[in-house]
Amino acid sequence: MARRLVVGNWKMRGTRSDLAELLSIDAASADIDTVVCPPFPLISAARAAVSNIAIGAQDCHWASQGAHTGAVSAAMIADAGAEWVIVGHSEIRTAAKLSNADVGSRVAAAQRKLRPILCVGEATRGDDLSRVADQLLASIPPGADPNRLTIAYEPNWAIGVGATPSTDEIARAHILLRDGLLARFGEAGRKIRILYGGSVQPDNAGMISAIPQVEGLLVGGASIRAATFVPIIEAVAKPNQAATCLATDTEAAT
Ligand code: PGA
Repeated sequence: MARRLVVGNWKMRGTRSDLAELLSIDAASADIDTVVCPPFPLISAARAAVSNIAIGAQDCHWASQGAHTGAVSAAMIADAGAEWVIVGHSEIRTAAKLSNADVGSRVAAAQRKLRPILCVGEATRGDDLSRVADQLLASIPPGADPNRLTIAYEPNWAIGVGATPSTDEIARAHILLRDGLLARFGEAGRKIRILYGGSVQPDNAGMISAIPQVEGLLVGGASIRAATFVPIIEAVAKPNQAATCLATDTEAAT
């Protein structure tokens, strides 16, 4: 079983005063891989504030430098102190009208300097999940290094709205994605971590991370406050305990 990974995506939220949240998030992350992805301007200060967790960015350009006003390259992100980057998040795919090939070139650029977390997911509940595996394979560039790749399954319809798929739906999507990775990379595809993301909260993190195919979580809204992110990190670090608590609570409530 791969070591579990929890990623916090602050999106366009947070200023320097919010960096105090990182102290308890850092303290809770001694036994688990945690990455926090703040907005670009906070990367250096976030890096300086933590010792257990790693810092990531939320996107990078495909080029290393040049006349691309407003864009930030993987090399610049690495220079600011980050080691990870989210690539192909559905909010950016939609806003920047990125094709899978566009996402793939960002993954390629990211892999030269950082560890990309490649996001994929279907638009609407009930969409054919095999299309998500197709999207994954079309978003992985030629020559990609399976040892520097993480996948996040994020159904678009579950992001930020408080709706989550059933445990069966999540397991099924993860199995299809794993099959895609094995087809693409052979046995090396087995080691690539596949995270789940979309409306993860303290009250569902234990149940979701207890799904055997889920190797970590990508958390948006609940990641900017330690009060909500730390319980999620703890639930992922001890998924079986969290699942048992959940079962006990359910029994006690009935
Ligand atoms: P959410 O966002 O946890 O707020 O749904 C997840 C994401 O967009 O990465």
